[in-house]
Amino acid sequence: MIDVPELALVALVGISGSGKSTFARTHFKPTQVLSSDYFRGLVADDENDQSASADAFDVLHYVAGKRLAAGRLTVVDATNLQSHARAGLVKVAREHDVLPVAIVLDVPESLAWERTQGRADRTFGRQVLTRMHRDLRRSLGSLAREGFRKVHVLRGTDEIAGAEIRYEKLF
Ligand code: GTP
Ligand code: MG
Repeated sequence: MIDVPELALVALVGISGSGKSTFARTHFKPTQVLSSDYFRGLVADDENDQSASADAFDVLHYVAGKRLAAGRLTVVDATNLQSHARAGLVKVAREHDVLPVAIVLDVPESLAWERTQGRADRTFGRQVLTRMHRDLRRSLGSLAREGFRKVHVLRGTDEIAGAEIRYEKLF
């Protein structure tokens, strides 16, 4: 069971192919989920244009802030593998007195690679995934220190498939 405050900023954390977008679709309403791909598309007409990431995240943070100010649960579907990326989310959450929560999807790199090879929208090489996986291992040690109130780590496909979200009343 994954306890999430009914008003929270939820950061999904995981390498490409770990199942973040699938998880987001399964557990949250489409409008609750802000995906980095979507925002890259908005600002650059190309969901994969990594050079648009800075602008995409600016807009994503802006929308997240508006949602949190209105008291709406917000989920960020991005890899969130680097502390500076997560720091931006923690900052937005704090600015709105909302609890930042991390849900980590930890799957074997080999499984993520297998899935990635079957996707037309992902063309990077294995070494990119290896770097992400290293960043994930590093992230696991530092998430709690970075200000995330709760860090839920789902290890493996069974834990991910069996996960249920339980909303905690704030007052
Ligand atoms: P990026 O957006 O590249 O960071 O990946 P992601 O973490 O959002 O992964 P996504 O949810 O897109 O899943 C990648 C692929 O794995 C897709 O083809 C999914 O259909 C598949 N997939 C994701 N989760 C599961 C799962 O639980 N079971 C199975 N069988 N396939 C899954
Ligand atoms: Mg995705």
